[in-house]
Amino acid sequence: MSGSEADDRWPVGERRDRDRRTQPERRKAATAAAAVEAERRQGARRASERRDERAWQPVLIETAVIDGFSPEEGVLAAARAAREFAQAHYSKFKVGAALETVDGVIVSGCNIENATYGLTLCAERVALVKALSEGHTVFTRIAVVADTQDPTPPCGPCRQLLWEYCGDVEILLGNLKALTGRYRLSSLLPLPFDRRLL
Ligand code: THU
Repeated sequence: MSGSEADDRWPVGERRDRDRRTQPERRKAATAAAAVEAERRQGARRASERRDERAWQPVLIETAVIDGFSPEEGVLAAARAAREFAQAHYSKFKVGAALETVDGVIVSGCNIENATYGLTLCAERVALVKALSEGHTVFTRIAVVADTQDPTPPCGPCRQLLWEYCGDVEILLGNLKALTGRYRLSSLLPLPFDRRLL
């Protein structure tokens, strides 16, 4: 891992061996620092800054296991719980999604189908519009869960919308038991159309 990548993941750049703060204190400080940096990147994105590639990078906060509970498990569990509410009467394919904001808030969604079929809303988009409509604008990761052995990746339109509002967010794919895939959105949408091209 390069130095800049390491800085991205732990924006406070703390030396863990000498740090005497408790884990919640560390998490709070890391979250506050990440929020400031995330706002800066959001501003650069809104300003259509073509050269600032970092503007499209998410600020990942503490990813270490805290008290035996990793942040991955939080979003995966929320996605599994949301999947139970899926309105998948036609496909019978239930999907749950959960977005984590830079403040550590988790907003979930499920797929919602309709008799016209074409009006179907994917779980990812439901989570995204819920989060945006509740005032959340900076995201660190999204989990997508289905009851399948193979990972269920976001569809094309969802990738486009996630890129627009989340940047190069981390994508965790899972089933009812385990994490089955981990990607960055840029690897699933390598040549995106976005406001830098307008
Ligand atoms: N679906 C999602 O909600 N998310 C995905 O990532 C893939 C597909 C939904 C849409 C539809 O309700 C059902 O799964 C079958 O395509």
